[in-house]
This record gives sequence, C-alpha cells and structure tokens, in this order.
Amino acid sequence: MSRFPLYRSRRFRRTESLRSLVRETRLSAEGLVLPLFVMPGTGVRENVASMPGVDRTSVDELVRDGEAALQAGVRAVLLFGIPSKKDERGSGAYAEDGIVQQAVRRLTEEVPELVVITDLCLCEYMSHGHCGVLEDGEVLNDPTLELLARTAVSQARAGADVIAPSDMMDGRVGAIRAALDEAGFTELPILSYAAKFASAFYGPFRDAADSSPTSGDRRGYQMDAANADEALREVFLDLEEGADAVMVKPALPYLDVIQKVKEETGYPVAAYHVSGEYAAIMAAHEKGWLDADACLLEIFLALRRAGADIVISYGARRLARSLRQGPG
Ligand code: PBG
Repeated sequence: MSRFPLYRSRRFRRTESLRSLVRETRLSAEGLVLPLFVMPGTGVRENVASMPGVDRTSVDELVRDGEAALQAGVRAVLLFGIPSKKDERGSGAYAEDGIVQQAVRRLTEEVPELVVITDLCLCEYMSHGHCGVLEDGEVLNDPTLELLARTAVSQARAGADVIAPSDMMDGRVGAIRAALDEAGFTELPILSYAAKFASAFYGPFRDAADSSPTSGDRRGYQMDAANADEALREVFLDLEEGADAVMVKPALPYLDVIQKVKEETGYPVAAYHVSGEYAAIMAAHEKGWLDADACLLEIFLALRRAGADIVISYGARRLARSLRQGPG
C-alpha cells in the first residue's frame, strides 16, 4: 500500500463524478419495502402522531398509497392490520374477511405489479396484545402455532405474495411452511423475522397498530439485545424449517448481526428500520436538527453495506424520491 504523499485519498473525492466512479455501495429503490397500516372503513386516513408521514388508512386509501409507492419506485409493501374487534384467540388475524385479507385482495387486484408482503402476527388481534395465546400470564408456544398456520393460509388465499411471520414463537416457520404446502401454496415464500429483538424502538409502531401488551412485555419470546450468537442460531433454525429469506430487526443497533447473518448464510437478508428509529429522525428533522432525507439515505447505505438485500423503511417513498433526484 502506498503512503502519503504518494497516495492522497482526496484525489477521488474532488467532484461528485469522481466520487461516484469509486463508490463501493450503490443504492437503488428495488430492495425497498414500505410498511402500511390498514383499518376498517372507507375514506379513512389518520396520521400516526409519533411517525410523521405515516398514516393508518382504510382499504380504498391503502390502494392509493400502494399506487403512489409504486409510482415512486418502491416495489413492495408490508401490511399490518388494525381490526375493529380483538379477542383472546386473535380471530381477526385469520378471518376470511379480516382487514388484512380484504386489503390484500384489493391491492393485488388494483395494483398487481406491487409485491404484497403480509406481516403475520397475532398481537394486533389479541385483546391482551401478546403475540400468542395467553394463559395465566404466560404466552403458550405450541397452541399459538396452529393459529399462526391458519393465518398464513388465509393470507395466502387472499393473494399475499410473501408471508412474513413476526411472532417469534419456536417452530413457527416449520408449522407455517407445512400448512402452506398442504393448502397448495408450495411456491409462496416465507420471509421470517428470524432475529427479532425485544426493543425499545417499537414504541411508535405499537401506537400505530394499537398492539401494546396490556400486561408484561415481549421479552419472553423476542430476543435479548445482548445476543448475537443466538441471533445466528435463530436464523439457522428458521432456514432449516423452510424460511426463504430472513430478517434482522431493528436495523441500526444490530448492524453486526445483519453482517454476520449475510456472511454466514448467503440467504437474502432483510433489515427492518423500525418505527422508533424512524420517529427519532423525523422528530429531529421537525426541530430543524437533522435533515431526514440525508439521514435516511445514509442509513440505507449502512444497511446495504452491512449486507442487507431488502430494507424495510417507513421512509421508503422519501428514499425512492431522493434516489431519483440524485445526490444533492
Ligand atoms: C408485531 C410487530 C411489531 C413490529 C413489527 N411486527 C411490534 C412488536 O413486536 O411489538 C414493530 C415494527 C416497528 O416498530 O416498526 N409483532
């Protein structure tokens, strides 16, 4: 390696054209996924106070958002449902006319080019807000699997393009894969939230999805933030059970995990830049302390550099717009 003054790092930094020649990581909107929240009604659009730029909408408005995303260059959305009623069995999650099922039918009919990924979890549909069946204060693993499998099949029947289980029960990928195969959906991919950490960054999402547990927390099933070896174990378990792609969530606090997962598996890896990560940037942006577009781009770069193929971001449309406009 040559040294100063023979080598000068600044030579290739002098103009944007020179910088772009040697840029190691190139961004495109192709790997972006926009999360969307759908609720009952028509003509409904409510902003989520803690997530500027994010709304909860009825199905008709959701279709517009899906179209707008596609127009902007975002090819995929991740759907979350807010049902009108919750119960102890999360029945809204697997109802034939459940809110997500309705949304998927309309979206795939009216915006067929858009990839529709369905988040698969019970917490939004459970009266107690936990991701599984609750008994005596405990979230039961095996009885939950059956409900998750039913939900997966019902989302598949509605026309989902990818199923994304986010519950963190043991054995759920295997249970979902078997149920999908049995129902004839052998070609439907599973993107598993494999390394999902119990995180303080989910707060704004729980406001948006109305899914905070009414008692206790999710540390009995989501991962301990301290554990990177265990994250790999979770990833390998899900791959062995039939996951086609794996997710790490949240994103920035777990860059090391993203990198390891990519290196060790070679599978498609998704990084979820979650609600709290997004909210922090938008709040600082509103105060004039940070430039949201620049920060979101820098984060997108960081996630791609770490090895993420897919990036799930509430700023996906902003990002796609910035990428079109080019470096500013
Ligand atoms: C459902 C689910 C959550 C998120 C995605 N799926 C919330 C949670 O686990 O409490 C969080 C997404 C975000 O914060 O943006 N289990």
